[in-house]
Amino acid sequence: MTTLITGGTVICATGADPADVLVDGETIVAVLAPGSDIAQSAAEGSARVIDATGKYVIPGGVDVHTHMELPFGGTFASDTFESGSRAAAWGGTTTIVDFAVQAAGENVRDSLENWMGKAEGNCAIDYGFHMIIGDVNDESLNEMDNLVSEGITSFKLFMAYPGVFLSDDRQILQAMQQASGNGSMIMMHAENGIAIDLLAEQAVARGETDPVNHGLVRRAELESEATHRAIQLAKVGAAPLYIVHLSASGALEQVAIARSKGANVFAETCPQYLYLSVEDHLGLPGFAGAAYVCSTPLRTKHEHHHADLWKGLRMNELSVVSTDHCPFCMKEQKELGIGDFRAIPNGIGGVEHRMDLIYQGVLQGELTLPRWVELCSTTPARMFGLYPQKGVIAPGSDADIVLYDPNKSWTISVDNHHMNMDHSAWEGFEIEGHVETVMSRGQIIIDNGAYLGKAGDGNYLRRGLSSYLV
Ligand code: URP
Ligand code: ZN
Ligand code: ZN
Repeated sequence: MTTLITGGTVICATGADPADVLVDGETIVAVLAPGSDIAQSAAEGSARVIDATGKYVIPGGVDVHTHMELPFGGTFASDTFESGSRAAAWGGTTTIVDFAVQAAGENVRDSLENWMGKAEGNCAIDYGFHMIIGDVNDESLNEMDNLVSEGITSFKLFMAYPGVFLSDDRQILQAMQQASGNGSMIMMHAENGIAIDLLAEQAVARGETDPVNHGLVRRAELESEATHRAIQLAKVGAAPLYIVHLSASGALEQVAIARSKGANVFAETCPQYLYLSVEDHLGLPGFAGAAYVCSTPLRTKHEHHHADLWKGLRMNELSVVSTDHCPFCMKEQKELGIGDFRAIPNGIGGVEHRMDLIYQGVLQGELTLPRWVELCSTTPARMFGLYPQKGVIAPGSDADIVLYDPNKSWTISVDNHHMNMDHSAWEGFEIEGHVETVMSRGQIIIDNGAYLGKAGDGNYLRRGLSSYLV
């Protein structure tokens, strides 16, 4: 089937211009100046015509940090690949890259097969995997090379969570050396978990057990220290480095210094670190703050982390906005940590809201329209070997296209979201702009408030190496 999207403003990382988009089957075949002969003959022929007048036409969002069904602290993230990928589609995201998990003592290959099995036949949109290496040893190091040739070209390591996922400096350097050899990207959870665990123990011993203490013991200095250490180790290991879920000004400073020296160091932040805070969210009285327990943690408003992160996005010190979607319900999940914040499962759900929340940054004068698309679609695709198949509206790319209505206002609520959660971290957030229509490889899966897709529409993506590495 041929489809003509006409009358809209096409937004790419390089600019925003009125244009028509011609789609044949699953692929974009042309981006045409308004009123072109080709568009006119398509419209007069058999093409399906979508009127995008007054709408932004943007490449589908690429969220490179999600955790569907993640086991954590004795429970599992509450979105399955089916429910979470469908929620992503509702919010204008057409590709996710989730994390397959090798836990300590597990075999990487078996773990990957397990995660592939969870996703296969269930996703509403296309999906790929990074691999968490929770046990760096000779076997997992060798397996990294095989995974790269199979389309898993990035590996997450942890400097946090001792006894669960933490890799020590020797293991980190070994994995970086391996990545240096096979061209893959090391992704780092950069927090000093050993120091954090000591502070957490001491806080609990003093009777400071409320959720806010989760954030207070995960000191910003311990994020910047780990970020600095990761950058130095990556230099020694000659590996590219991507810092995940960066939340603090000091950590950003470390990334900015490394980038100013030309290092292959990149970082992402997430909407929660741009809008939510200790004062207004994590520090809510009683147990309510548990909804906002995540790692890295929310930071204080008064220390200007929010403003620094927005500036980092403008200055390209931060290259990507992802969600770190890791949802847990309050009931029976977050509640596991009543009386001891250490037992609250870490994570916030937000895969549905990233495009809208970052668009608010455009309206607030923090970002331009092209930068919105660059941060949410184009760079994540380039960073993780999906470009130009994903992340751009151009001939030959997959027809993953969102029609975004800038004139519609609405309010986020647990009552209207599609994530499998009994609360929303974004409850009451007023949004200007709305995802109207979502096309995934040429198929309309969201249209005017209706989901038209089905589980299994999404394909597994074998990713290439990052476009950012020379
Ligand atoms: O709190 C978080 N971020 N949970 C998910 C696991 C991780 O570290 O990304
Ligand atoms: Zn992490
Ligand atoms: Zn994460």
